[in-house]
Amino acid sequence: MSSVKVELVHNYDCQLGEGPHWDDQTQTLLFVDIDNSAIHRWNPATKQTKTTIVKDSSIGAVVPRKSGGLMIAAGHRFASWNENTGESETFKEVNLEFPTSRFNDGKCDPVGRFWAGTMGRESAAASPDRLQGKLYCLDIDHSVRTKVYPVDISNGLSWTSNVMYYCDSLKLTIDAYDYDVTTGDIKNMREVVKFDREKEGVPDGHCIDTDGNLWVAMFFTGQVIKVDPRTGEKLQYVKVSDIALKTTSVCFGGPNLDEMYVTSARNKPLMEPTENDISGALFKASG
Ligand code: BGC
Ligand code: CA
Repeated sequence: MSSVKVELVHNYDCQLGEGPHWDDQTQTLLFVDIDNSAIHRWNPATKQTKTTIVKDSSIGAVVPRKSGGLMIAAGHRFASWNENTGESETFKEVNLEFPTSRFNDGKCDPVGRFWAGTMGRESAAASPDRLQGKLYCLDIDHSVRTKVYPVDISNGLSWTSNVMYYCDSLKLTIDAYDYDVTTGDIKNMREVVKFDREKEGVPDGHCIDTDGNLWVAMFFTGQVIKVDPRTGEKLQYVKVSDIALKTTSVCFGGPNLDEMYVTSARNKPLMEPTENDISGALFKASG
């Protein structure tokens, strides 16, 4: 993506759009609106969106389940989710010692373990009650392990076959761990990329490309930054929007996985609404 074209896919007006996941089987994009408890499924071929609402909690992350249906990390619980009936089965509740905390970002590792993390209640964007979050892993056998704690805002996750990259946003870093694909164990944490909050924003969700570079959505600056996590070098700055500044996460999608979807959150009430307010929209970048 050397010269990048960014287009608005649809203005969902998400309060907190998050967690895009390209569902290869159906060629649709799953993502959530955390604060509105909404799971959206965007079909680029039909330009239709299917939306289901998770009752009784916010929704932090959604992924397809191998045996059918979806898995969610919602509020405090890991659960299954049936998009057609709204039926849900809770597997495990976590972080109950912090009642106002909630699940935030999550993703599956290369063998299908579902990793998702929590964060404290926010008084303002990117200002949570401190150190109330943890990163959890729901394993294939349904056991849940706590992997990283305490964290402030559990956010982006990406993997290679032997490294896990993780972002606890308020650290302003991407951290790397040695990752054992057979056990899901992580060790040897090191900070590999550092961001400047004033100039670049707060690092949020990220994804990895086939060259091993990370594409990091930057909250507050409406952009995605491509970084090489092996050197820490910033390789490319992709402006997504001058209006939707709270860009929250990215994933590759499309038939050839060469398009990049970017979610965003509403700027209101922190910014005066503008006439063409597209904060909270879904965007697509292509080369
Ligand atoms: C969270 C927001 C938070 C932001 C900060 C997002 O992943 O959902 O609540 O303000 O990260 O970067
Ligand atoms: Ca995120």
